[in-house]
Amino acid sequence: MHMPKRAAKPSRLTDVFFRHMVGNMRNGVLAIARDGGVVLVNDEACRLFALPPGQTLVGQPFGDVLRHHPDIVRVLGGAFEMAALPNRAELRLKSTDTVIGYTLSLVRDEAGATVGAALFFKDLTHVEQIEERERLRDRLAAVGAMAAVMAHEIKNPLAAIEVVAGLLRRKAPRNEEVQTLVKDIISEAKMANAIVQEVLAFVRPVRLQVDRTSLAEALASAVVLADGEAKRGSIQVDTSLPAHLPLLGADQYQLTQVFANLLINAYEALEGRGRIAISAVLATTAAEGALLPDGHQPVATVVVDVADDGPGMMPEVAEKIFNPFFTTKAQGSGLGLAIVRKIVDAHEGRIDMTTADGRGTRFRVTLPVEPYKHGPHH
Ligand SMILES: Nc1ncnc2c1ncn2[C@@H]1O[C@H](COP(=O)(O)OP(=O)(O)OP(=O)(O)O)[C@@H](O)[C@H]1O
Ligand SMILES: [Mg+2]
Repeated sequence: MHMPKRAAKPSRLTDVFFRHMVGNMRNGVLAIARDGGVVLVNDEACRLFALPPGQTLVGQPFGDVLRHHPDIVRVLGGAFEMAALPNRAELRLKSTDTVIGYTLSLVRDEAGATVGAALFFKDLTHVEQIEERERLRDRLAAVGAMAAVMAHEIKNPLAAIEVVAGLLRRKAPRNEEVQTLVKDIISEAKMANAIVQEVLAFVRPVRLQVDRTSLAEALASAVVLADGEAKRGSIQVDTSLPAHLPLLGADQYQLTQVFANLLINAYEALEGRGRIAISAVLATTAAEGALLPDGHQPVATVVVDVADDGPGMMPEVAEKIFNPFFTTKAQGSGLGLAIVRKIVDAHEGRIDMTTADGRGTRFRVTLPVEPYKHGPHH
């Protein structure tokens, strides 16, 4: 049988295949003929430009079809005049606030005559968001590094201020005015130092000293710590733990910080009256559906709830509470929960929060009984 070297005309089969391929492409395709009539618009193009189904548009002048997208009309309109077509360009569709990346090609026939132009494009909004997040992360890392340096530099002069103020106090033991003023200087310097420590705690990587840790003890120390740091007033704290909780492979000091921070926040939210319930249960990750390292057996976990019956949070606050430096308090640094999360992460645990405006807040800390990475320690 005679086979043509090159098909002069595409067969019907290839033609259909070609149409399906273009129709299903994940890039947008829009082609016009020399006279400006639309030849082809695929589904993705219709979606991006918010157009009715492509078939209904074929033959219409592209200026009409794209009347809501003057930017695209300008690009396409210039196609036949431009000496060199842009290889890759981006533009933002003002109508839908979408960023698209596009290439523009001329369609030529066998003789090399220009018979149309085709625009290939892709929705870059998502890509842009990823880049935005990456930029934000870089910026946070830079801010963190700067904060670490500053905190470190401020520590020494602060210590000096405290020492010098102490000397001054001894110089004028009987001058009551001097004594009061110097006492203020020292207490302000101590406060500044506490903020510096907090910033350092946040920017430093968490290093755990994993040991056999009693959750009950960590919780009891956390209550003592919180009572020393914030006004408790008449707030009632009820702790209910199961009788035979296993010891946790955890850093007792850091766990205490976690629960103390949660308690301090609850004290501050309750403003002197209300109730905080601390409870814990044993669970396995299979039931909890989390914390399961790939390809490993379900892990025994302890789920600790710290719930207050305070004012709760508005959704726009709730979504930001773990962000470093997010605070709604005049005196807050906004690092409390950011540090809590870092410590819980270091333990391979998880922290969740549920709240309803006016109906209290519950923080749930889920910790593996034995962190996988650290293994048992004795
Ligand atoms: N139990 C709670 N009830 C209501 N709001 C809360 C509670 N816990 C946290 N929040 C909200 O989350 C925000 C962030 O808390 P976070 O502990 O990170 O910072 P902070 O308490 O404001 O400052 P810092 O802990 O550094 O003193 C708080 O400002 C508050 O608005
Ligand atoms: Mg706090």
